[in-house]
Amino acid sequence: MAEISKKQLELLCSQALEAREISYAPYSRFRVGAALLAKDGQVFTGCNIENGAYSPSICAERVAFAKAVSEGCREFKAIAVAGGAGEVPDDYCPPCGVCRQVMAEFCGPDFLIILAKTPSDCKTYTLSEILPLAFKL
Ligand code: THU
Repeated sequence: MAEISKKQLELLCSQALEAREISYAPYSRFRVGAALLAKDGQVFTGCNIENGAYSPSICAERVAFAKAVSEGCREFKAIAVAGGAGEVPDDYCPPCGVCRQVMAEFCGPDFLIILAKTPSDCKTYTLSEILPLAFKL
């Protein structure tokens, strides 16, 4: 598994939780935040942004990837994700299948997915664990 310090882990979880605060989710009321750590140390955050026509809605993880890639950043180490319907997340929020596929486009099998409930309560997986047999052209 790729290395990430405890301090960096806690910081990334806090940034995901903070990004969740500005989620725009008036339809599902399920608010998600993500913090994507690039190999050069930059962090790109994202929140889910819903739409009244439903299908234009976009997940927090993909907002973070879109921000990074559109700024020329394509090499990543880890992403922290925090989501839930309550005031604070009451469970871990694993990325949806579409977001896993987007991760596979830009990240290798050792990319870390950190599911955060609080800054200090999280579970970490690799991309190969949560998306085995990834489709790639
Ligand atoms: N959502 C995310 O932002 N990330 C995920 O990986 C799962 C789902 C959002 C999409 C939608 O706005 C809300 O959570 C409920 O599905």
